[in-house]
Amino acid sequence: MEVPENFVLIKAWKSKTETTPAIFTPELENTRVLGIDFGTSRIKAAYWDAEKGEAVVLPLGKGERLYVPSLFHVSEDGKIRFGDEAEMMLHQDSSGVVENLKLDLAKPIKYVPNGQLVKSGELMALLYRRIIDYASRQVQSFGGNAPKMLVLTLPSCWDYSDIYMEALESIRYKGEKMVIREPEAAGLAWVEEKKPEAGDMLMVLDFGGGTVDWACLQVDDNHRPVMIPELSPGGIYSAGSHVDDGLLDEMMTQLNREQIIDVLQNRAQVLEQIRRMKESQNGQASLTRKDGVPEVSLRTGSFAFPKKVFEEVVKREVVDLAVEGIGVYVKKVVRHMTAQNSKKHIWCLLTGGTRFLVGMEDQVVERVMEIGKAGGVDIRFVKIDQADFAMVRGAVLKGVSAIDIKSY
Ligand SMILES: Nc1ncnc2c1ncn2[C@@H]1O[C@H](COP(=O)(O)OP(=O)(O)OP(=O)(O)O)[C@@H](O)[C@H]1O
Ligand SMILES: [Mg+2]
Repeated sequence: MEVPENFVLIKAWKSKTETTPAIFTPELENTRVLGIDFGTSRIKAAYWDAEKGEAVVLPLGKGERLYVPSLFHVSEDGKIRFGDEAEMMLHQDSSGVVENLKLDLAKPIKYVPNGQLVKSGELMALLYRRIIDYASRQVQSFGGNAPKMLVLTLPSCWDYSDIYMEALESIRYKGEKMVIREPEAAGLAWVEEKKPEAGDMLMVLDFGGGTVDWACLQVDDNHRPVMIPELSPGGIYSAGSHVDDGLLDEMMTQLNREQIIDVLQNRAQVLEQIRRMKESQNGQASLTRKDGVPEVSLRTGSFAFPKKVFEEVVKREVVDLAVEGIGVYVKKVVRHMTAQNSKKHIWCLLTGGTRFLVGMEDQVVERVMEIGKAGGVDIRFVKIDQADFAMVRGAVLKGVSAIDIKSY
C-alpha cells in the first residue's frame, strides 16, 4: 500500500500484538513531538505518547539505561563516535574522548587531547542526527518520520539556542523547533503530574553535571504554569563535573611521577572512574572497597580517597556554592511573595543527579526552610517520578502545547 507522505502508521504503535490492518491517520501527524535534554553528563529524550496522553521517556542507552553519556570520541582518522560508542572508547583510546562538551560549547572549536581539532557544531549535529533518526525508528507513532516538533532544553545560565539551531540546519531538519529553560521544563512536568491550584507557585532546583539551576513558576487561572518575570531563572556554574575535576586534582597531589603520567595519558578514563566512585558513595555503583573506602585503579596501582578528603572536595566544589546561590534566590522569591501578597506557601522540587551528593539535599533543604520561616513562607518539598527526566518530559509538554495538541 502506498503511504501518503504526511500520514502516520499507528497499528504497531497501538499494540505490538494487535493484528488489525494498519490504519493511517492525518491527526497523528501532529503528535510527533520529541524533546532532547542535552546535559553536561547525560543526554535524555522523551516523546509524546498520544494514546497515553503523556510525555514518555525514550530509552537511549544500551541495556536498561534510559540515557546516553554526553561523550564523543574523535579518532585519529577523524571518525566521530557518540554516546555509548564513545564511552567504550574510554578504555581503548581515552585521549580521543571529549567530555563535558556542553560546558564550553560557546567555543566553536574543541581541542581533543589526542591532538585533533573538531568543530563543536559538528558534534552537536551528530548528536541531533543520531537521536532524531533513532526516535523516528523507535517511536512507533513517528512511523519512520522525523518529529514534527523538536523541543530542546537550555540551561538557565547560557543561551545556546543559536548553536542548537545551526546544528539542526546543518542536518536539514525541517520540522518545527523550540527551546525551553531546563528548570522551567521540569516545572511543567511537575505541574502536569500534580495539578496544583491556580495561584500556587513552584520553585525548581536542578542539580546537574555542569550547573545548578533554579527557576520559579506560577499556576495561572487557566491552570497553566507560567514563568514569573521578576524571578528569572538563574544558576551557578558548579555541579557534578566540578566535583570530579576537584577529586582528580586532589588525587594528583598524592601521586608519584609515574602515576601522574599515567593519569595525564588517560585523563578521560580516570575521570570516568572518579565519577562512578562519586556516585557509588550513595550505594549505586561498584568501585568501592569492602571497607567502604572509594578507590580508583590506575595502571600503576590504585588510589583510595580518604572519606574526609572526598567530603571536603564535595563541600568546596559544589555544596557550599549551591547553598549560597540558592539562598540568595530563595530570599528573592520570599520577598516577591510578600510584596505580591501571594499565597503563604510554595512548592519546591529538587531534580538532577548531583542532588544525591553527600550533604547536598540536607544542607539545601535546611537553608531554604530557614529562609522561608524567617519570611513567613511555608516551603513544601515535593517529589516527581523519574526526577532526572522531568526536564525532558516537560520539554515535550511545551511542544505539545505549542502545536495545540493540548494546552499547558
Ligand atoms: N548517585 C549519585 N550521587 C552523586 N552524584 C550523582 C549520582 N548520580 C548521578 N550523579 C551525578 O549527577 C550528574 C548528572 O546529573 P544530570 O543528569 O542531572 O546532569 P546533566 O543534565 O547531564 O547536567 P546539566 O543539567 O548540568 O547540564 C553527574 O555529575 C553525575 O555524576
Ligand atoms: Mg540537566
